[in-house]
Amino acid sequence: MDKKYCSVPVQPQEVTPKHVYQSRRKFLKQMGVLGMGALLASCAPKLPSPGSSPDPNLMGDQSSNFTDELGDALTAYEAIIGYTNFYEFTTSKEGVAELAENFVTDPWSIEVGGLVKNPRTYSMDDILGHFTQQERIYRMRCVEGWSMVIPWLGFPLHALLDEVVPTEDARYVAFETALVPDQMNAAESGMFPFPYLEGLRLDEAMHDLTLLATGLYGEPMPAQNGAPIRLVVPWKYGFKSIKSIVRINLVADQPPTLWNTVAPHEYGFYANVNPDVSHPRWSQATERRIGESGRRATLFMNGYAEEVMPLYEDMDLDVLF
Ligand code: MTE
Repeated sequence: MDKKYCSVPVQPQEVTPKHVYQSRRKFLKQMGVLGMGALLASCAPKLPSPGSSPDPNLMGDQSSNFTDELGDALTAYEAIIGYTNFYEFTTSKEGVAELAENFVTDPWSIEVGGLVKNPRTYSMDDILGHFTQQERIYRMRCVEGWSMVIPWLGFPLHALLDEVVPTEDARYVAFETALVPDQMNAAESGMFPFPYLEGLRLDEAMHDLTLLATGLYGEPMPAQNGAPIRLVVPWKYGFKSIKSIVRINLVADQPPTLWNTVAPHEYGFYANVNPDVSHPRWSQATERRIGESGRRATLFMNGYAEEVMPLYEDMDLDVLF
């Protein structure tokens, strides 16, 4: 088998409460096991883009010896919640928590409709009561070359899609973020055509790795990370993982996505992580893992190739960006 298709299956783990992560971390710190914050160079782009390089001040240390299935340490909680992309609030990666402080995420509902037999509007109570929440430790790779390892809480999207029952004509799933200008500073800045839209092919959406996440590190989802519910598609660049979802529509044709609409030559619909296909403005061959110094090789399909390659058997990998 090709070396780059070498990921191992991801096992959902029992949910680990945040205090357990934290006490382990404190212990390791006392033992001198955790390193200094990594000295990473920041190279934030001049133009807004769906991600950018990390700020060295926010890097922190690696959180613990909890790891993903490849043995990679979790990214520090503070880095995950302190360095985020949520352009409805700001194009800055920092201070988003403060700007999103008054974002009302309770009550919340998600409308699921389009080409389905049982359209339904779910409240968050419905969702949390109905779909068993599991922990999934996933790598997240941003298109601008930084990455994290995040312990999400959530449930596979297919559990929800199975309930609404897509019709035979449904081939894609379209997602939409809330648009609440009086709670989102930059929603009407004119920089982006909000609401933020994303999409997946139906078989990608039905893949067991595709998650609707409701929390991280055993805690409810912080506003800046996409409260109260967001998508996580770990083999795709981070911009596909749309936050604060209010609408999911099953459709027949490939739906428009925000980044593909504003810069079609830079951001494709598929956006699968591929170190061999450069973005027009930068290479995708390597990445900075937040909390580490230096760069590491980017894994094909972000290390999930074995699980997801059957989805793309008939496609030319070079056009998958
Ligand atoms: N979803 C919405 N609604 N708005 C955004 O600006 N940013 C995307 C994605 N989802 C974004 C979004 C980008 S570019 C990335 S890299 C990830 O969210 C970042 O997720 P994180 O901030 O939780 O790390």
